[in-house]
Amino acid sequence: MARWDATAATQRVLERCTILGALSETPDNLTRTFLSLPMHDVQSLLLEWMREAGLTAHLDAVGNVRGRLEGLRSSTLIVGSHVDTVPDAGKFDGILGVLLGIEIARVASKMEVYHSLEVIAFSEEEGVRFGFPFIGSSAVCGSFDPAWLTRTDAGGITLEESLRNFGLNPLEIPNAKLDLDALLGYFEIHIEQGPILEHLDSPLGVVTGLVGQSRLTLEFGGLAAHAGTTPMNLRRDALTGACEFVLEVEKLARATDGLTATVGRLETLSGAGNVIPGAVRLSLDVRHASDVVRLLSTNKLLELARQLAELRGLRCGITQNLEQSAVPCDPALTSRLVGAVLHGGLSVQRLTSGAGHDAMIFAPHCPVSMLFVRSPGGVSHNPLEAVFESDVEDALEVGCTFVLDVLGDHSA
Ligand code: GLV
Ligand code: MN
Ligand code: MN
Repeated sequence: MARWDATAATQRVLERCTILGALSETPDNLTRTFLSLPMHDVQSLLLEWMREAGLTAHLDAVGNVRGRLEGLRSSTLIVGSHVDTVPDAGKFDGILGVLLGIEIARVASKMEVYHSLEVIAFSEEEGVRFGFPFIGSSAVCGSFDPAWLTRTDAGGITLEESLRNFGLNPLEIPNAKLDLDALLGYFEIHIEQGPILEHLDSPLGVVTGLVGQSRLTLEFGGLAAHAGTTPMNLRRDALTGACEFVLEVEKLARATDGLTATVGRLETLSGAGNVIPGAVRLSLDVRHASDVVRLLSTNKLLELARQLAELRGLRCGITQNLEQSAVPCDPALTSRLVGAVLHGGLSVQRLTSGAGHDAMIFAPHCPVSMLFVRSPGGVSHNPLEAVFESDVEDALEVGCTFVLDVLGDHSA
């Protein structure tokens, strides 16, 4: 393609994924949660790379890195993804979409564009540190709830303190909000994180919608007691109660078409090898394309937890961390994306996202669309996460065609 060197841009993206993948809070793997120390270096590099690509860049009050290209109009297309990770992560989840956004902006910056473009690297999407996700995009969309500032991480640090410790001012968060009336749309490129595209032998997928999700924390409380002196029938063991619940979660999800339900964390809050566990905390993540099925299933699981607890003489505490409805992608924007895929000579594969993405936070405010890149092996949230270089180049070509088409549309 004459207008730019997509191969060089692809290599730059992949090299930068590796550079950012080395910025971790842990020495032996990639773990980079919201406002952790390595985020400072990530932000510095992204600011530098955005500016070098022709964008006007700044850091906002929740740590999002934002690069803007002014068009003739203030109406704005957002291209974004996130830079936080799960523990022991791969180097492409989130980061790939941010770096592809910068390369697309580099191409757009060499033209006179009609609409404006903003590339955003969201500071928090995974929900790992504070137990609920989408903090970065919520601030941008004006849905950041100030009550969140009192939420604590595993170390008891509030969100407010963590922002201040990082050098950010929580009072300025309202300034991070975009002019929602000027939003033209939101577009994100992301690795698929599952096996479908590989199975279809297709490099790219067009996302039709994103499943809804409920995230909760459950605490089972029993009685910590001596492991040798307390007979089995006189125990109130919080861990065996929790384990029974975990198996019920799996059983219900297996029996319900399209439902995923996961206990991803389970910790005994005190304890030693010779102490009966007195308190256990666990996470529960429930997802389904239908909100009705998700909510009914979640309620059923919580009722089961209460019943199990009662039978075993345990207390059961439940905290709701997230209630996110399913989100359809915008048909008109998505059909433009389909056009870009066809323009690239590729077949169109449509799929639903089982993962959450910042597009869900933008969806109430503007049309959203997403492009998935095949995940070899179907693995994600794992250091084995990978991409094929040729797929990334396809994503760049298609993403660029799509973004330039939207930015140049005088009828919008
Ligand atoms: C984000 O990766 C999610 O858990 O869906
Ligand atoms: Mn993720
Ligand atoms: Mn992600």
